[in-house]
Amino acid sequence: MRYLPGPPNAHFLYGHFFDERNNIEILETWVGAYGSTFKIKGLLSIDRVWTKDLDVISYLLKNDHIYYKPEPARYLLSRLLGNGILVTEGAQHKLQNAAFTSTQIRQLTDIFYAKALLLRNVWSCEIVESTMTRKVEAFDGLTKATLDIIGLAGFGYNFNALNSEGKTSELYEVFAVLFQPNAAPNPWEILQAIIPAFRVFETMARIRNELLTEAKILQNGTGEKGDTTAKDLLSLLVRSNMNDELPVVERMADADVLAQVPTFIVAGHETTSTSTAWALYSLSLHKEVQVKLRQELLSVTTGQPSMDELNALPYLDAFVHEVLRLYSPIPVTSRVAMKDDRIPMPKPYTDLKGRLHDHLVIKKGQALSISIYAVNRDKTLWGSDASNFRPERWEKIPEAVKAIPGIWRNLLTFSGGNHACIGFRFSLIEMKVLLFTLIRAFEIDLAVPVENVMIKTMGIIMRPTVKVDGRELARLPLVIKAIDSS
Ligand code: HEM
Repeated sequence: MRYLPGPPNAHFLYGHFFDERNNIEILETWVGAYGSTFKIKGLLSIDRVWTKDLDVISYLLKNDHIYYKPEPARYLLSRLLGNGILVTEGAQHKLQNAAFTSTQIRQLTDIFYAKALLLRNVWSCEIVESTMTRKVEAFDGLTKATLDIIGLAGFGYNFNALNSEGKTSELYEVFAVLFQPNAAPNPWEILQAIIPAFRVFETMARIRNELLTEAKILQNGTGEKGDTTAKDLLSLLVRSNMNDELPVVERMADADVLAQVPTFIVAGHETTSTSTAWALYSLSLHKEVQVKLRQELLSVTTGQPSMDELNALPYLDAFVHEVLRLYSPIPVTSRVAMKDDRIPMPKPYTDLKGRLHDHLVIKKGQALSISIYAVNRDKTLWGSDASNFRPERWEKIPEAVKAIPGIWRNLLTFSGGNHACIGFRFSLIEMKVLLFTLIRAFEIDLAVPVENVMIKTMGIIMRPTVKVDGRELARLPLVIKAIDSS
């Protein structure tokens, strides 16, 4: 590690923590100066390996028995979320994956449409008649819609975050305080978030128990509704868990089934709302793309095409790919070595003493950053126009990108290997339904000058950010114009 090249430390306490997340331009400078794998300083100036090298990334993702998600993150997440999928392995993991097949998601599209249409109606209701326009805070609306969707599709629970009467559910109230995205929360705000966290635990524990009991009753066919085919993912988990053919050792304890509830909520809603916000942002910058996409969407004769019909729309598909390539909601993921190792480097690196190495020596405990962002924008993979927004590139992608070890097509956006995103099919259809519904209804424009919208990573999510009263907040102010349906 001592001889691995890298930029000089930026700050004794923060190291390069903020550069890695928020200073996009610096990444290119680093790669230019130090290559695809180098050393940066993390928090407390601790050495981290930073990489966009596909061989190294494939190795890290494949060898997940050596490279774990970092302990502090796991610990914090498990405290916050319970022992959910982020900290479970093996049989439980397989069971959880069963809930996210295409067949399962096909059945959830009605829920996606119900909330997409509600968002459209909420946005329509204050449109000024003379101009047919209004201003909306798109990020807020999308986040409420995706929270409602994951609640219903995941567990049959209605957060009611999106409504015009202000009648939200009790769980939404506590969530809203806890997960309010803010670029730089001050200590008082952190404290304010921790206190309701206890309320979240309490409220969540009670609601989870209610949900599980209800799911079990439904599965037994003895519930009031007598519905044995409940579509939500929790019911599916319960159903597969209660299946007589499943060996007892592979069954999940009630507590583990319950633990999935908050994991899905947290992992499944802000990622999708953020990527949909980036989609609207891209459309506001590229009017020709907006026109072309709307044309395709308006050519569909029904207002609620099925999952398969949506997937058959080529420009929508290319557009969603391009958004997720340029604006990956999770720009960087981390791993920690659980034992000493040597990572093979088919593309050797030169150390600070000028020696060439065909492997990287890793000590137990070493932290590594996988830059999803840099891979998705790598000019050596995508071509010289890699930083441009161009959905048409998906008609024929370069051979080189086929080596990207992502679970979904040729993108690292949903990561890869055993701990890749399990919700990617879910979120792709959810995004398509939201876009289909909104883009057919409205023309989209930014409500602030483009230079006022910054790309900032808060928590682990890269969001559109705007300064409000001197503070950086996750926001996307848009002007929407109703499309004359005649
Ligand atoms: C655009 C939307 C989404 C993006 C970009 C995204 C991205 C990711 C990424 C990059 C990871 C891997 C993190 C790592 O390697 O450390 C991940 C894991 C995960 N995602 Fe997603 N995700 C999205 C939507 C969803 C949805 C809708 C759900 C659930 C309904 C979900 C559930 C999960 C879970 C449970 C994991 C942990 C898997 C494991 O550790 O085994 N995600 N996601």
